[in-house]
Amino acid sequence: MILVTGATGKVGQEVVRQLATAGVPARALVRDPTRASSIRIPGIEIVVGDLARPETLPAAFDGVERVFLLTPAAPDQVELQSNALEAGRRAGARSIVKVSVAGGPDAGTQIGRWHWATEKQIEASGLGFTFLRPTLYMQQMLFYAPSIAATGTISAPMGAGEIAVVDTRDVASVAATVLTEDGHDRRIYDLTGPEALSYDRMADAISDAIGKKVVYAHVPPEYTRKQMLSDGRPRWLVDDMIVLAASFRDGYGATVTSTVAEVTKHPPRSFRQFARDYAHVFREGH
Ligand SMILES: NC(=O)c1ccc[n+]([C@@H]2O[C@H](COP(=O)([O-])OP(=O)(O)OC[C@H]3O[C@@H](n4cnc5c(N)ncnc54)[C@H](OP(=O)(O)O)[C@@H]3O)[C@@H](O)[C@H]2O)c1
Repeated sequence: MILVTGATGKVGQEVVRQLATAGVPARALVRDPTRASSIRIPGIEIVVGDLARPETLPAAFDGVERVFLLTPAAPDQVELQSNALEAGRRAGARSIVKVSVAGGPDAGTQIGRWHWATEKQIEASGLGFTFLRPTLYMQQMLFYAPSIAATGTISAPMGAGEIAVVDTRDVASVAATVLTEDGHDRRIYDLTGPEALSYDRMADAISDAIGKKVVYAHVPPEYTRKQMLSDGRPRWLVDDMIVLAASFRDGYGATVTSTVAEVTKHPPRSFRQFARDYAHVFREGH
């Protein structure tokens, strides 16, 4: 049995759907079953559990052989993932497929260090593992949908930095493949889209998809910091986003890998494809 955590999120939902489509029985861990309507699919068993409450996990992990591990990036992520690892180990699981982040120990961000800490715990656990390290998700651009719809603008501190953004659906395809095939044990997969693009080029692709001019405006990092803090974003997140933006401006996100195609046997989606698929969101702003 495969257990999918983060099953109501961007990547996890798609992992569940792809397993169901492939006819692979799986179990989806959810905290609130009333929010699981999108994954109530034939072949998928919904189990209720909370990675912050280890006492809820033995039943959810019972009989599980492979675990898809994903939680939100947050200060408690190491603890949540450690709880999942322990529950998997106790249940006799054989392997864990963990969504991590590009850069591994060199990511330079707090989020990167948290992921790295969990990778080390999993390596030391004796379980089989595969780490998926995606670059920035294309779906992050949906954050700008309200301003794109309202004023046709994307404001960010990315300069002309190019990023090999990856579609969460392709991250999920890699995960679904690794969860259902042998041959991926102890592998670390750096996942990117098919090309590195600046925010200018992404704005052009969104313009073409929605039939309206969208312009990217670089803003100073300090402006973004103030904006995020006044929006109530936690300081650790703001600090990390500023570090990440600087590394993108310096070109650290530009490396393109062929891993998605090698693992899934399909080319990764282009940003143009992503923009067409989500054109309604960019047009309507939500
Ligand atoms: N954003 C990027 O560009 C990017 C790039 C590379 C890597 N990543 C990594 O990708 C991961 C985020 O992926 P995502 O965007 O798919 O996440 P997401 O959409 O935010 O989904 C998070 C999932 O975790 C679940 N969850 C939260 N707290 C939980 C708990 N205590 N117990 C059980 N489940 C819990 C949520 O369930 P509920 O419905 O119950 O809230 C939800 O299903 C992070 O590790 C991040 O570092 C992100």
